[in-house]
Amino acid sequence: LKKISIAIDGPAGAGKSSVAKLVANRLNYLYIDTGAMYRAFTWAVMHRNIDIADEKAVQALAETLEIRLEADVELCRVYVDGQEVTNDIRMPEVSAQVSSVAALAVVREKLVQLQKEMSMAGGVILDGRDIGTVVLPKADLKIFLTASADARAKRRWLELKNRGTVESLQQIADNIQARDKMDSHRAVSPLRQAEDAVLVDNSEISLQETAEMIVKMAEEKM
Ligand code: C5P
Repeated sequence: LKKISIAIDGPAGAGKSSVAKLVANRLNYLYIDTGAMYRAFTWAVMHRNIDIADEKAVQALAETLEIRLEADVELCRVYVDGQEVTNDIRMPEVSAQVSSVAALAVVREKLVQLQKEMSMAGGVILDGRDIGTVVLPKADLKIFLTASADARAKRRWLELKNRGTVESLQQIADNIQARDKMDSHRAVSPLRQAEDAVLVDNSEISLQETAEMIVKMAEEKM
């Protein structure tokens, strides 16, 4: 069987990471959570009190920061310069800032480069906003995963609750809406569906069913 590459893009809370994890486990593929990388970079910016308007400082950070993902069956662990930040990067403070940081070209250059290197061998599934359009324009399978705003807010709320973070449904819905707006309207690599991506709306189906659908589509490409 050919080891293919799978791209999943879509707005916040569509269940991209849960679905990608399920698919990765089923196919024994490497799961790469690119949103976690933007969150990790944002965490470092905040932790070091860097002003994102200070291009030189952001550039210097992009040149030196080491971001590492360690996928295991349950979750994708994230390390910044060796320090684990898996839970810290899901905090509301990071969620509030991440789309501003992700709009910076120097940050995207660094992380896209890293994502390409990690994907080189195939047998990978990446989720994000620009995977099918920029990171892996030649991905074997591209999915644009979306759901109603309501379904997405509820899902993200449940996910955060399970991780032990307390945020109201309204706060989460507001953050999702703000990020979608910024992510879709930024100048560099905005969120958009690639022309050759399959549109999947999972408002009415479970994450397991969504993953099952994608596994079937993937098997056809192998
Ligand atoms: O996937 P997640 O919602 O955790 O991503 C957090 C943020 O990172 C997004 O709102 C977006 O601003 C940014 N992001 C991006 N490009 C990606 C993945 C995430 O700009 N490929």
